[in-house]
Amino acid sequence: MGIMAEASAVDAYFETTLGVEDPVLTRARERARAGGLPDIAVSALQGGFLALLVRITGARRVLEVGTLGGYSGTVIARALPDEGALVTLELDPHHADVARAVFDDAGVSDRVEVVVGRAAETLPRLDGAFDLVFIDADKPSNATYVREALRLAHPGTVIVVDNVVRGGAVADPGDTSATAVGSREVTELVAAEPRLEATALQTVGAKGWDGFLLARVVA
Ligand code: SAH
Ligand code: DHB
Ligand code: MG
Repeated sequence: MGIMAEASAVDAYFETTLGVEDPVLTRARERARAGGLPDIAVSALQGGFLALLVRITGARRVLEVGTLGGYSGTVIARALPDEGALVTLELDPHHADVARAVFDDAGVSDRVEVVVGRAAETLPRLDGAFDLVFIDADKPSNATYVREALRLAHPGTVIVVDNVVRGGAVADPGDTSATAVGSREVTELVAAEPRLEATALQTVGAKGWDGFLLARVVA
């Protein structure tokens, strides 16, 4: 077995053994597929990580950039306390419709607001503060999204930027795709920003080889 197939099998082992995906989340994935959405939501185990991050940080207000069919949004919203809130931004009105149906089904609609539009245009209209920001939309805009997240943050806010590795593209100087360039830009921005302390973790599993930036607002 190749490393990617083995990594997928390990994901399947932990996913099943830990039971991280319950019927609500399985239905969320099915609704997204039935709606013709791309299969690019976080994996079940990555979702488990996001849920724990919400709990560990004690986040009450969470911002998500890139809703898709509401899989990660459902994970986040369910991990919030009763008075918690998720604001999630999505460009595609059809994705937003599927997500709203998923949030209804999960019983979290009362704590989720879906904002439709280009995030670069909707972010400046938002008011903070958010305790946790999950950035997972168009990768070339990641630096813009981190700048906006900083505006909407308070000391202690945690920022996660998904998909900064993309099969190693970020560290391949020969890869000048907008995605790879965007990943380098956001990494350099985070490195140069004294308000942020950050690390990056690679992941391997059901979603292939990728990874995320994890940052915390210091001041
Ligand atoms: N967070 C989701 C996956 C998001 S996929 C999950 O894990 O379940 C990325 C989403 O970002 C797609 O739905 C895409 O339509 C959306 N997107 C792409 N460009 C965008 C933009 N400029 N503004 C807002 N959303 C955007
Ligand atoms: C893609 C986007 C994502 O957010 C992700 O987690 C995986 C893939 C994509 O656009 O291909
Ligand atoms: Mg992603």
